[in-house]
Amino acid sequence: MTYRQLYKNIRSRLKDDASAYCRYLLDRALPELSIDDNDVPEELLEKHKAAAEKAERGEPLQYIFGFAPFYDLLIDCGPGVLIPRFDTEVLVEEAIKTLPQNAVFADICCGSGCIAAAVLNSRKDTRAVCIDISDVAIKYTKENLKKYGLSDRAELIKFDVFDDWDGLPKFDCIICNPPYITKAEMEQLPENVKKEPVEALYGGEDGLDFYRRVLAASKNRFKGEPHIIFEIGYRQANGLRALTNNKCEIKKDLSDNDRVCIYRGVL
Ligand SMILES: C[S@@+](CC[C@H](N)C(=O)[O-])C[C@H]1O[C@@H](n2cnc3c(N)ncnc32)[C@H](O)[C@@H]1O
Repeated sequence: MTYRQLYKNIRSRLKDDASAYCRYLLDRALPELSIDDNDVPEELLEKHKAAAEKAERGEPLQYIFGFAPFYDLLIDCGPGVLIPRFDTEVLVEEAIKTLPQNAVFADICCGSGCIAAAVLNSRKDTRAVCIDISDVAIKYTKENLKKYGLSDRAELIKFDVFDDWDGLPKFDCIICNPPYITKAEMEQLPENVKKEPVEALYGGEDGLDFYRRVLAASKNRFKGEPHIIFEIGYRQANGLRALTNNKCEIKKDLSDNDRVCIYRGVL
């Protein structure tokens, strides 16, 4: 099979994802691939067959590649951990802009560690405490921090946020992208999202369980004034306003959806 034939095969099977597939899996850009009449080495064809089959079964490309672009990093990810989303970059920008000098921040529900890695990488003066209930998440966070030489400024803690927070360190700020999909939304999830872990998605009947818990449990865990930066679902701004007695600020993402909730002060 030639590269040109391989290109047609990929394009017909993967449609809009073909470009990213060629770039990341074959390490070739589309225009040059589509006019190349050289034979594809057998080894590459085998790699392609296995990957294309997974993609056709609905496995997210980021799991097949083993990483996802996030902020200015390539974050390793795979089955069992949430794929980092572009929407979350707004949260990262807010943290980079507003964390006080030498801040210790918590990345609660850290998943792949994408938030902590991006913030630590841009703000060399800060330190992170990364918390998640999942062994797979802690493993990826560890890997991603190591990949960018950030491990010495981070502590990793396997912890259930619904347990007692007394043993946790104190923070200047909490950053948190928790599971926030409602019960009704869980029943309508797109097929590709269903490949991601349920415990990274489901936020209780109204999607707000983790916000309630973090707001209540974090009260005594700040070194100074409480400062929380949450990612929220695009329909959750009013829910967060109610939970914070209207004391939060809501910011939008690049698609103009409500995406970040900033809470400062004592509830
Ligand atoms: C929406 S994902 C966020 C992952 C990552 N911060 C990101 O932005 O891509 C939520 C994470 O919360 C974790 N999680 C779920 N329940 C938890 C609990 N009770 N305590 C701590 N972490 C939990 C999941 O394992 C998952 O990694």
